[in-house]
Amino acid sequence: MTAQVRTAIFPVAGLGTRFLPATKATPKELLPVIDTPLIQYAIDEAREAGVERMVFVSHPSKSAIERHVLDDADLRAELQARGKAALAEELAETALCPVEDDVVFVMQDEPLGLGHAVLCARDHVLPGPVAVILPDDLILGRPGALSEMIAAHARGDRGHLVATMTVPREETRKYGILSVTGRDGPLLLADGMVEKPEPADAPSAEAVVGRYILDPAIFEALATQTPGAGGEIQLTDAIARGAGTIGMAGFRFSGRRFDCGSKAGMLSATLHLAAQDPDYADVLAEHGLRSEHVRAA
Ligand code: G1P
Repeated sequence: MTAQVRTAIFPVAGLGTRFLPATKATPKELLPVIDTPLIQYAIDEAREAGVERMVFVSHPSKSAIERHVLDDADLRAELQARGKAALAEELAETALCPVEDDVVFVMQDEPLGLGHAVLCARDHVLPGPVAVILPDDLILGRPGALSEMIAAHARGDRGHLVATMTVPREETRKYGILSVTGRDGPLLLADGMVEKPEPADAPSAEAVVGRYILDPAIFEALATQTPGAGGEIQLTDAIARGAGTIGMAGFRFSGRRFDCGSKAGMLSATLHLAAQDPDYADVLAEHGLRSEHVRAA
């Protein structure tokens, strides 16, 4: 039997330079798709997957994330007093309560890379494999991508498991790319992974997106990991080093992924959700766009 995934790590310390000036004062993880910040989608996905502890690896300049994530009893009381009980209830349901929920914030003071961010969580994780969620990869679907991955991991531990999707060859330089050796249902068997290769050097077009289930041996690998692409400590490199011993596989999730680290991806996610909500049918029609709902005349 494989060990349970009890911890989810959320690396949220990045500066979000691709979204400046929007991210000058607002962390990119708090940018909303319609009315829900990216970090909230990630938290909801982790909750649905049943993790016990959530570890946020943040930056001192991004205290607004903490304010969003944690329950704000004063705000709820104010809403109640103004007769907005339903809104107060909604906030209570989505927030994490420092007393009832197991939530930890650690700081990554220097931007040394995704691998370094995950390493910052080391002293705060529960025993067993850990999940990592990158909130700017929004994956919409039922069940959530993390739930699917945890179920696949429980069916047979193949070591590190990374969410995977096929990308156009010319985009390999934006992703970690798997060296694929075979397939087994939704699993892509792999013997390695390369961070952001040029298309000509890419071992495949199977890219990693921001969901990982990692064997706890990852922390030792990260502690001794030398800087890689971009001079940063890359999570990809530490996973690849364990491929021969611990094993690794890609997992094809069933949901739809939006690259919300890019402006086009944010817009696409917004339009996708708007098209499913009859409230936006008129505004979409104004722009010549179709809603999935047809308004009753
Ligand atoms: C990170 C990872 C990369 C992965 C990508 C998914 O890159 O380093 O391997 O493919 O997330 O979004 P970033 O987008 O942070 O540069």
